[in-house]
Amino acid sequence: MPYKVPFVDPRIHYQKLKIDIDEAIGSCLRQGDLIYRQQLRQFEENFAAFVGTKYAVGLNSGYHALHFSLQAADIGPGDEVITVAHTFVATVSAIVNVGAMPVLVDVAEDHNMDPDSFEAAVTSRTKAVIPVSLNGRVCKMDRIMAIANRHNLVVIEDSAQAIGAKFNGQKAGSFGLTGCFSFYPFKLLGGFGDGGAITTNDPEIARIVGRLRYNGEDRTTGEYHYHGQTALLDNVQAAVLDAKLRHLPDWIAHRRKIARLYSEALAGIDGISLPPYDDLGHFDAFQNYVIRTPYRDKLRQHLKKDGVETLVSWPKPMWEHRALGLGRPHLPETEAICREVLSLPMSAETTPEHVEITVESITDFFSNAPSLVPDDETVVTFSRAD
Ligand SMILES: Cc1ncc(COP(=O)(O)O)c(C=O)c1O
Repeated sequence: MPYKVPFVDPRIHYQKLKIDIDEAIGSCLRQGDLIYRQQLRQFEENFAAFVGTKYAVGLNSGYHALHFSLQAADIGPGDEVITVAHTFVATVSAIVNVGAMPVLVDVAEDHNMDPDSFEAAVTSRTKAVIPVSLNGRVCKMDRIMAIANRHNLVVIEDSAQAIGAKFNGQKAGSFGLTGCFSFYPFKLLGGFGDGGAITTNDPEIARIVGRLRYNGEDRTTGEYHYHGQTALLDNVQAAVLDAKLRHLPDWIAHRRKIARLYSEALAGIDGISLPPYDDLGHFDAFQNYVIRTPYRDKLRQHLKKDGVETLVSWPKPMWEHRALGLGRPHLPETEAICREVLSLPMSAETTPEHVEITVESITDFFSNAPSLVPDDETVVTFSRAD
C-alpha cells in the first residue's frame, strides 16, 4: 500500500514542473545539445551566482566534487584529512580514494563538526579539513575557518545537503577553497539522476577541476594535463537543474514553513528533541527535518503503520562497516545520533496536511510514554533518499 505521507514524491514534483522540465529537456534534444554546451555553461554561471562564488564547475556527482577538490588541492598519500563520521560515506571515500588518511572527529548537538574536536585532531600531517553541513544547516564556519587558518589547512566544504543554507548571511559552499554539491534527485536541488558541482573563487582550482572532469583535457587546446576521469555534468541534467534553480528560493521557504509547523506541533512532547532552527546566525534550509528519540525504532514502526514514511540517516556508525577499514574511533555523540535520529517527511511537496498526519501519529505514540521502553541498540534498516 502506498504511504499516506511519502518521504518524498518525485511524481508530483515532476507534474508541478512539467512545462519547464519538458521544455528544458526538449530543447537540448531538438538542438542535439548533449555534451558540454551552453546549457551547462549557463547553469554553472547561475549556480555560482546563487552560491555567491566566482565559479561553479558541473560534475556528475557530489562524490566527484569532493574527490576533485582534494586532487586540485594536491592532497594525497601521506596527508591527513579531518572530517566527521556522521556523513554520507562518499565524504570519507573521496579522502581514501585520493590516497590520503581520513581522521574522523565527533559532531556536536547540531549534527555538524564539533570545532573543538576538529582542532584537537590536527597533527603535523594534517593538510585539509572537510566540514560537512548536514541536513540543511551550515557548520560553525567562523570557528572552523579560524582553526583552519591558524594551522594553514585547506578547507573543502561538503555542502551536498546545504544548498541555499546560510551562516552569518553567507551561503554554504562559499567559505572554503571549494564547496562540494550534489544534485542527487532528492537533494534540495535535484536532477533526474546523479549530478554535482564544485564552487570556488579560485580560477586555478576551477581550471584544474574543469580538466579533471574531462579526462584531463583542456578543451580549448586539446592538451591532456592529467589522468582525469569522465565526470562531466550531463548537458540535459544541467538544463533541468537550471530550470529548477529558479524555484529553489521558494522551495527553501516552503521547507522552512514545514519545519516550523513540525517544531510548533511537536514542541511539548517529552521524549523527542527537535532540530535547531535559525539560532546564532544560522539560516537553515532543511534538507532534512531530523528529530531524536531513544524510542526511534519503535516510533518508526508506529509511523509506518499509520502510513508515514521516514528515513534513518545513518543507523550504524560508518566505522562499524568493517570493510571500510576506518578503525574504531571513540565518537560518543556520533554513536548516540545513529541510535536516535529519525528524519520526518520533508520536501517541496510536503503539505501542512502531511505534517498533521505525522504529528498525530507521533502524539499518539507518546501518549503511551510511561509504558515505553527505549529501543535496544540493534540496527535494523538502511535507506538513502536524502
Ligand atoms: C553529505 C553528503 N556528502 C556527499 C554526498 C555525495 O553526493 P553524490 O551522491 O552526488 O555523490 C552526499 C549525497 O548523497 C551527501 O549527502
